Amino acid sequence: MPSTETPGPEMNPLRLREVTTPNRVWMSPMAQYAAGPDGMPTDWHMVHYGPRALGGVGLLMVESTAVGPLHRTTAADLGIWTEDQALAHRRLTSFVADYGAVPAIQLIAAGRKGSHQVPWEGEGQNGPVSAADGGWDLIAPSAIPFGDLATPREATPDDLDEVVEAFAQATRMSHLAGYHAVEIHASHGYLLHQFLSPLANHRTDEYGGSPQNRMRLPLRVARAVRQAFPEDKPVFVRITATDWIDGGITIEDAVQFAKELAAAGIDLLDVTSGVLVRDEEARPPTREGVNVGFAATLKEASGLAVAPVGQIGSLATAGRIVGAQEADAVLLGRALLRDPYLALRHRPTDKDAWPVRYHRAL
Ligand SMILES: Cc1cc2nc3c(=O)[nH]c(=O)nc-3n(C[C@H](O)[C@H](O)[C@H](O)COP(=O)(O)O)c2cc1C
Repeated sequence: MPSTETPGPEMNPLRLREVTTPNRVWMSPMAQYAAGPDGMPTDWHMVHYGPRALGGVGLLMVESTAVGPLHRTTAADLGIWTEDQALAHRRLTSFVADYGAVPAIQLIAAGRKGSHQVPWEGEGQNGPVSAADGGWDLIAPSAIPFGDLATPREATPDDLDEVVEAFAQATRMSHLAGYHAVEIHASHGYLLHQFLSPLANHRTDEYGGSPQNRMRLPLRVARAVRQAFPEDKPVFVRITATDWIDGGITIEDAVQFAKELAAAGIDLLDVTSGVLVRDEEARPPTREGVNVGFAATLKEASGLAVAPVGQIGSLATAGRIVGAQEADAVLLGRALLRDPYLALRHRPTDKDAWPVRYHRAL
């Protein structure tokens, strides 16, 4: 563990609209599949997120949270489409904010990657849950299934209007819940990514075919979310830089999308890649900071702030990326599952950084 007391560039604050994150080491959204029956947060969420907020992350992104019951990935997903659900998040958002992290939430519509088991059930492959077992019907750009999940129905234009309104409603509820930033999930093979990628979108109407048409639904959602959230608070999009597979999204497609997102008033791109198809060949390569170069390209092309995610495992790496101005912040996933206090590790005796109740241990 590094023991230097001198904070690196990753510890500088970052301002987005009127929201300032105290540093640039952020927690990536990670689904816990621990919601109560109504998609409500449970004790698990307090116990899980609490230490990461105390542990000094600058922004804490709550896991993918469904914008409607039919947009969930599993029956154990968080949901934020009603006022009751929103109010149930307040305990969590106020705790996170009280301990210095910006509370943020990722909003998701699952599309063809919905109605499946939680990862540790069944064969460990997120197997399908049928209607008879409490599952639900899926919509997608085209009737092409994801792996062995149910074949989705091709979404109608009315379905797509409902999706846009569901994101707007979930955004209003996120504000009510006390979140200071929202993120639209447009990657990892979920609904908006399915529309963007020619491999999942075979439509012949105005939502398919040309890049402009494939971007139409995600951009409608981006504009609706931006409009539904207070002007002084930022909106992020998790964007796919490449599908890592022939015929899928390339960095050139992502650049075009990023420019449109900038025009739609989006503030920051959370840059990831892959997972559109259940195919070993389409796995992102194992490489430290695998999406950092893509983030730098998207930043340069769009002028937006960027925060890459993926295989960033230490503060030293975070500091190098931010210090080289390849990114404005970084998101850490699994490293923060292993160590909730990671962001404090290079300040082992800094009383300003550690919670006052722990000072006798410093
Ligand atoms: C347990 C777990 C749950 C995840 N859930 C989500 C999620 O809800 N939304 C999302 O966009 N990515 C999700 N991911 C992906 C992470 O946010 C992150 O992009 C990925 O783990 C790569 O970053 P890392 O190498 O720092 O872990 C999840 C990853 C893990 C390990």
